Amino acid sequence: MTIHNRNIVIDFEPISRRIYYSDNETIYHTLTKSGIRIKSLCGGKGTCGKCKLLIQKGLNLFNDPTMAEAEQLSKNEIKEGWRLACQALLDYRKIEQIKDLQSLHVRIFLPDDLLVEDFKILTTGVDKGIQLNPNVIKLCVHPDKPSLNKPIPDFERILYSLPPDKLKPIGNVEIEYNILKELPDLIRTQEDGLTLTILNNKNIINCEPGNTLEKNFGIAFDIGTTTIVGYLMNLNDGKIHAISSLLNPQTAYGEDVITRITYIKENKDGLNQLNSAVINALNTIINKTCKKARINHSNIYEISIVGNSVMHHIFLGINPTYIGLSPYVPAIQRNLNIKARNLGLNISREGNVHVLPVIAGFVGADTIGVILSSQVEKESEMTLVIDIGTNGEIVIGNKNILATASCAAGSA
Ligand code: FES
Repeated sequence: MTIHNRNIVIDFEPISRRIYYSDNETIYHTLTKSGIRIKSLCGGKGTCGKCKLLIQKGLNLFNDPTMAEAEQLSKNEIKEGWRLACQALLDYRKIEQIKDLQSLHVRIFLPDDLLVEDFKILTTGVDKGIQLNPNVIKLCVHPDKPSLNKPIPDFERILYSLPPDKLKPIGNVEIEYNILKELPDLIRTQEDGLTLTILNNKNIINCEPGNTLEKNFGIAFDIGTTTIVGYLMNLNDGKIHAISSLLNPQTAYGEDVITRITYIKENKDGLNQLNSAVINALNTIINKTCKKARINHSNIYEISIVGNSVMHHIFLGINPTYIGLSPYVPAIQRNLNIKARNLGLNISREGNVHVLPVIAGFVGADTIGVILSSQVEKESEMTLVIDIGTNGEIVIGNKNILATASCAAGSA
């Protein structure tokens, strides 16, 4: 029986492409034949080492690493499943030994820097004319110098220099303790004014010398069961400056939400392991997007998070076990604001993480994101919105009522 007859499919992530494999071709050829261009300096000869990819599932179905791979990859990398696309091919002798057809599933992760084109994520769509209303604004102020005539304290002088039309009554404005500690020196050394970063129209979360109004960034994360995507956006104008994605590293502990819940139940440190995996992935994406956009991570002041209920809980370090048990209730439904540093996320020191609310059961904050962006709640006609992911959700309704449901869709 040939490989082709056994219908071997390879899922390439994070680009979500499923491709049928043909006999005796390297993964390099499978990709290029399908129009997915990858980096190569040697034209597939195995000498440049540029075509590294990670075989996440089905490694046992591949040929043994070649001499070229022994030279280009470390022993550890080979052990973890890294291969050169131009050397790796499915080995039909190994495949013939497999009785369980389920085991013929192959999943390959393509690192960001392997792909020539940045075509991985759908970034365009119907513009619903969403009005920008960021939680974080920056204001450049020129506070008066203190004098004997007006011995006004530093923080209050800052308050008096704030433009009243930009903020709610200034009496409500607060300052983070860490920023307050730096204020007396900062306010006396600045010549060109100070730039304040204000969260929710109320809380000063950063103060820096000069005018840095342009450097006001936020990052939105969609934590999918299989893929995590981060969109780095300038909060002043809503322009997306960089997008980066990773395979959710939790897939190493289970492909779907139920398997991950089981892993957490059966392993004492399971929740910590899965939580660290997702936090590390988010920090990696933060670094990558900052590098692409040439900005400093300290200029990111807010993160927004969506994900299904299980991803939401694991991200927060909350045990998701009870979502998987009748009556399937989450630990919390409402939205949350948490300091990024408390979650281990590497942005501005006082940066905020806004976690969108979940809906019910497995229908989580990602569906809130779908509703907000599609604006289905404003439609007069009965409208159906479908979000197909490893976990799939639908929303049906209009301006009067909305109903949602979810099911495992990855297998479909
Ligand atoms: Fe150069 Fe594979 S393309 S090593």
